[in-house]
Amino acid sequence: MSALPFHLLPDTADLDAAGRLSIGGCDVLDLATEYGTPLFVYDEAHLRSHCRQAVEAFGPGVAYATKAFLCGAMAKLAHEEGMDLDVATGGELHVALAAGVPPDRLVMHGNNKSSAELTMALETGVGRIVVDSFDEMDRIDRLVTGGLPAPTVLIRVNPGVEAHTHEYLQTGVVDSKFGFGLASGAAQEAVERAMHAETMELVGLHAHIGSQVFVAGFFAQAVRALAPFVNAFRLPELSIGGGLGVAYVEGETNPSIREWAEVVKFACNDAGITAKVTAEPGRAVVARAAVTLYRVGTVKTLPGVRTYVAVDGGMSDNPRPVLYGSGYEAFLPRATTADRPKRVRIVGKHCESGDVIVHDAAVPEDLVVGDILATPVTGAYGHTMGSNYNMVVRPPVLFVSGGEAREVVRRETYDDLLRRDLG
Ligand code: LLP
Repeated sequence: MSALPFHLLPDTADLDAAGRLSIGGCDVLDLATEYGTPLFVYDEAHLRSHCRQAVEAFGPGVAYATKAFLCGAMAKLAHEEGMDLDVATGGELHVALAAGVPPDRLVMHGNNKSSAELTMALETGVGRIVVDSFDEMDRIDRLVTGGLPAPTVLIRVNPGVEAHTHEYLQTGVVDSKFGFGLASGAAQEAVERAMHAETMELVGLHAHIGSQVFVAGFFAQAVRALAPFVNAFRLPELSIGGGLGVAYVEGETNPSIREWAEVVKFACNDAGITAKVTAEPGRAVVARAAVTLYRVGTVKTLPGVRTYVAVDGGMSDNPRPVLYGSGYEAFLPRATTADRPKRVRIVGKHCESGDVIVHDAAVPEDLVVGDILATPVTGAYGHTMGSNYNMVVRPPVLFVSGGEAREVVRRETYDDLLRRDLG
């Protein structure tokens, strides 16, 4: 029965007397008319304030994890607000550099960085490389011996902490492809090798326990697990990675970036860690900043079974429900806080039964074909994980602020679909 929880909307969300939604001073139904659907609408003030919160909470050096949402405008924005940027592939590195982010403000990740990616990172002079394997160390040795500048590195340690999140989002358990295990002695060996290597300058350790972690205590647990190791080497830097969870649906709450930082820093102090502690949030910065707008195209009621509401996007702009069974809310921006007594399944337009946006959505009784339907909290891992499945073109991205909309990524065209096709 309940209305959409308003706290799931971006910071500048506002309603007129009839409950019609505006974000950044822009009426979202007007945006849908002007730019078409599906459409990602990002609240620029929200993005900026969350970057600033991260910098205030952790200090300079805190990095925005670009895998959550990346385009030129986002890279520039995060940099302007004082964040470094975490890039995990040559492609992310390329986009961040093209946006004008200074290389020394970039942190290069990846569990299987190729020689080409490492060459790019060394030639451009990225600020930090987070080393993930002995094979990567071999590659760095070869490239630096061959004449490229020696990088400044962190060693990624796997603390062996089980964070309660989806299995695919866990990264700090013992059985993981990421990092050097603490328990196995691999982390010790990696640190000793890096300390003595002339091909890299070791300045710290890195650990990332997983993503969409709601309980700040898990980060404290990771810190406690790492502390003896960190204290044994007294390296100047420690990054606790990203992973702070975000509320997507009614009933969920999340710690703020500030609260997360307090828990992490308290745990570090308590464990006698003297390193400068930093982090790399992605989702917590961008998830709630955006809503996705769709247009309802068909409504099929299967008597005694359920009603299917199909929209003009789907798993190509939001694969999270299919991949992780993630939940979302849905609402009609023409009546944002209307009661939602009807239960429906919101599906996309792809030729696949799994193409679901919301399995069991509460929607207003009067939802009809032609309505604009919105899903909140779609700013993270939607645009970046989108695809062209069924040759569906990817939606544009708008930044809205002060009553103005800025198109920062245009809608894909059918010609774009043929651009790499050599016939
Ligand atoms: N740092 C490292 C080393 C990471 O691997 C990640 C995320 C982050 C930072 C940022 O984590 P965040 O603060 O955004 O949770 N596609 C999944 C999430 C995968 C996250 C992968 N690594 C999803 O849609 O939920």
